[in-house]
Amino acid sequence: MTSTDKDAFLAIYKEIETDLIADIQNLPALSDSVKQQLIDYYSVCIPYTVPGGKMTRGLTVIKGVEVLKQRKLTDKEYKDAAILGWQVEWLQAFFLVADDIMDASITRRGSPCWYKKPNVTQDNAINDALILENMIYQTLRRHFKKHPSYVQILELFIDTTFQTEVGQHIDTNGTPYADGKRAPLDLSRFTLDRYQGCVRYKTCYYSFYLSCALALAYCGYDPDTTEGKALYQNAEDICMILGEYFQIQDDVLDAFAPPEVLGKIGTDIEDAKCSWLVCKALELVSEEQKEILMANYGKHDAEGVKKVKELYRELKLEELFQTYEEEQKKMCDDLIAKIEPQNFQDLFKFLLAKIYKRQK
Ligand code: FPP
Ligand code: MG
Repeated sequence: MTSTDKDAFLAIYKEIETDLIADIQNLPALSDSVKQQLIDYYSVCIPYTVPGGKMTRGLTVIKGVEVLKQRKLTDKEYKDAAILGWQVEWLQAFFLVADDIMDASITRRGSPCWYKKPNVTQDNAINDALILENMIYQTLRRHFKKHPSYVQILELFIDTTFQTEVGQHIDTNGTPYADGKRAPLDLSRFTLDRYQGCVRYKTCYYSFYLSCALALAYCGYDPDTTEGKALYQNAEDICMILGEYFQIQDDVLDAFAPPEVLGKIGTDIEDAKCSWLVCKALELVSEEQKEILMANYGKHDAEGVKKVKELYRELKLEELFQTYEEEQKKMCDDLIAKIEPQNFQDLFKFLLAKIYKRQK
């Protein structure tokens, strides 16, 4: 078994879920029948929304602790790292339940989005997103209250949540709202500058940096020392680059990947998102082609979406992406090879191998 074996990781998930359900059973001043309703509901909600992804963010914490310790982990260390890893997956579940409502998405991980389930609805799903978030702090307290890095770990989750929410605001307002509906498209907003800021906040911190920083914190590296500061900074620098590359893939897959492989149906064109594809298209379009974008981008209309995708094909954006991907891979290889200490490099090699040429 390797440290990043998915079955072992999932066994820890089950323990966390069992504890959270037991917490409901122990809530004071609720009748047994009300508690049972809550238990029945969250016994479905948690397994539906938390596991079932690629689990890379969670597994990265384990890989990080192993790389930093430079040896096989003890059972206790493995379990601690896995619990921390699952908290990143819980954070992601919280974000995705909310994001799917905000993006009016249909499917996620090959099944209907949580808010789309007939006995859930948007009313419940908003509250469930917040409950999933709170569960992170219940679990961290249960396992790490006495850990020397407890406060740092808490702050990492709090800060990362804020960063992601800032990113989500930028993402949702690529085309702002006015009078309760979308304002007319303003293509001048779709610049790579806006794109890079948005992605740094909405993706890079929670999808890449958080797991690496948790591994450092768990292993006792203090960001207020010279040695510690450099480690966190090196991790942040490379995570911002890997995260941007990952989100550009997400944008290209949103338009071009078969939904049955991707597990979700893209909505970026309908939602008028500041996607890498639209930014690149705007660098390349003729006036005539710009008219096609103006007429069809940001509309919930299958014919319009088709026209935008045809334009992307005419502009050879998939080919442009393939060139970008090869260049990015080379650049990341070179940057990772310079990271100190050398053992730390394996963590970023692990991440790069997970994302290079990914299809979902
Ligand atoms: C997905 O990006 C976006 C996120 C995971 C961030 C979502 C953040 C929030 C919803 C903020 C928390 C909100 C509340 C309500 C308190 P994407 O839409 O590009 O990815 P996708 O293609 O997987 O949907
Ligand atoms: Mg989305």
